[in-house]
Amino acid sequence: MTTKIICIVNQKGGVGKTSTAVSLAHGLSQQKRRVLLIDLDPQGQSATALGRNPEPGVFYLLTMGTTQQETTFLNSWVRLSGREGLYLFPGDQQTMAAQTVLNAQDKPISAIRSSVSRFFKEGLHYIVFDTAPSVGGIQERAVWASDLVIVPTATEFLSADGVSKALHMMSILQEKKNWRGNLLGVLPTFYDEQTRESKATMESLQERFQTSLLPPIHRSTLLRECASQGQTIFEMDPLCHAAKEYMALTRLVLKY
Ligand SMILES: Nc1ncnc2c1ncn2[C@@H]1O[C@H](COP(=O)(O)OP(=O)(O)OP(=O)(O)O)[C@@H](O)[C@H]1O
Ligand SMILES: [Mg+2]
Repeated sequence: MTTKIICIVNQKGGVGKTSTAVSLAHGLSQQKRRVLLIDLDPQGQSATALGRNPEPGVFYLLTMGTTQQETTFLNSWVRLSGREGLYLFPGDQQTMAAQTVLNAQDKPISAIRSSVSRFFKEGLHYIVFDTAPSVGGIQERAVWASDLVIVPTATEFLSADGVSKALHMMSILQEKKNWRGNLLGVLPTFYDEQTRESKATMESLQERFQTSLLPPIHRSTLLRECASQGQTIFEMDPLCHAAKEYMALTRLVLKY
């Protein structure tokens, strides 16, 4: 069995990265897969979205080596999420310091893949990375580590910008750094066909990204409330629109 890594990335803030990472991770675990959600964002919001506290596990994950002792220590940071098959590797603001260390030590592009590969052997089906709204050493190495990348984008004006930058980064990694992963797709979020802006943006995203564009996630009040409740959309209401849309995304991921 191989562990697949999925990275959720967009340097733009507030486009639904964390919502997507958490929903997908929980969706996959509901489909009987074992999933580790790794919070590479110093904001630590993957933890809060699951009703847990941010903790500095990721700082150690990004700065420690691969000896048996270090691996034992890192395993101790894996948290139960309280949901069957779903585990959390928490991060917090110390992840920013890890970014500095990565850059100062000029760690290779493969650094994150090498570090998380220690988890591969434990019957784990998926690792999902939530990432920060910025560009930097962590994002690049996280994408390089991944088999599949999802780029969420809000359906509002100028949103294509962040997407283009992410796709550009990916093509450079493929051409210059021998990255073997692929884009799963661009995921429109906050979609609302009642507003002209949302509709017009959707059309221009379709034109620009064509077959890479995934079916959209609609704007959803329940989804917005999830984080403050520490519950996923499948716990809030598994039959709501957003839950069905995120389950459809989950099924798409399962086909790869
Ligand atoms: N489809 C949606 N409908 C309504 N609200 C949403 C939707 N997706 C996300 N939200 C809400 O919008 C806010 C931003 O979403 P989220 O945290 O997932 O974005 P992000 O890209 O991870 O942000 P950041 O870049 O700061 O990490 C959150 O309050 C979230 O609950
Ligand atoms: Mg986030």
